[in-house]
Amino acid sequence: LTDLHVWRWPTKLAELLGKRSLGVLELAAGRSRRFQQERLPDVVAAVHDSKSDHVIITGDLTTLALLEEFEAARASLTPLLAGPERVTILPGNHDRYTRWATRHRFMERVFDPYLPDWNADPVKWIDSQTALLAFDPSRPGLSAQGWLPPHQLEAARRVFSEIQRVGGRWIVACHYPLVAPDHLQKHLRLKGIKNGHILSQWLSSTGRNHLYLCGHVHAVWAMRPRKIPNQLCLNAGPPTHVHTGHGPGPGFLIIDLEAGGDVRVTHRGWSASSWHDHELMFEPGFFAS
Ligand SMILES: [Fe+2]
Ligand SMILES: [Fe+2]
Repeated sequence: LTDLHVWRWPTKLAELLGKRSLGVLELAAGRSRRFQQERLPDVVAAVHDSKSDHVIITGDLTTLALLEEFEAARASLTPLLAGPERVTILPGNHDRYTRWATRHRFMERVFDPYLPDWNADPVKWIDSQTALLAFDPSRPGLSAQGWLPPHQLEAARRVFSEIQRVGGRWIVACHYPLVAPDHLQKHLRLKGIKNGHILSQWLSSTGRNHLYLCGHVHAVWAMRPRKIPNQLCLNAGPPTHVHTGHGPGPGFLIIDLEAGGDVRVTHRGWSASSWHDHELMFEPGFFAS
């Protein structure tokens, strides 16, 4: 799941300085009504009921990166937080909303065991055959664009040989998508990773099929991008966003890694007061070779 966007009104004057004042205006202008945070416990219960082997949250847990928002997100997520071997959490640009929150490591203070270690080892083995490799291009600043530090790509290149040696399944997780469906591509250009082409090029050059789990663009999709043909890109969309009536209701994705390398992606969405499953994609033999 992704883009929970838990929000709180700032209570201290100092919290209103700089970029947060824009964020508060945005909340007052409608964002606070669009993100129904009172829905989060039900979302968490539904994810818990899915009995998934591993839960991955691809960033934007908060809105203004207030410590209170991180703590509220953690309190809501408690039923899922069964330990880092079962749960992985990545930051999004809203979790790095201000330099202050980033420098004082608010997210790390609250979610540390669940965040990948980008300096030492960015790969986590979900099981003996499934490697999860995470990237963090989220940076504080006025723009919502990300920037991937070269050392993260170097670390990825280093661990990739081990992933290749073991074989099996490879999952990449990053808050920012590298591609979006055609009608959202223009939107992504304004808020994507500035140097995202180096990650796209490297992922394509590996020639290895991988799942790419992302968020950031608030929409649900499962797609095989033309420019990264060895990728299956998945975005769960924000689970507490008010349902616009178009497309599936807000929810999360259940990814089944089946025998024979098959991948089945189901969207579980909330509409008309109940959860509904909808098969988004079935890729036979995706991880077979
Ligand atoms: Fe977001
Ligand atoms: Fe984002």
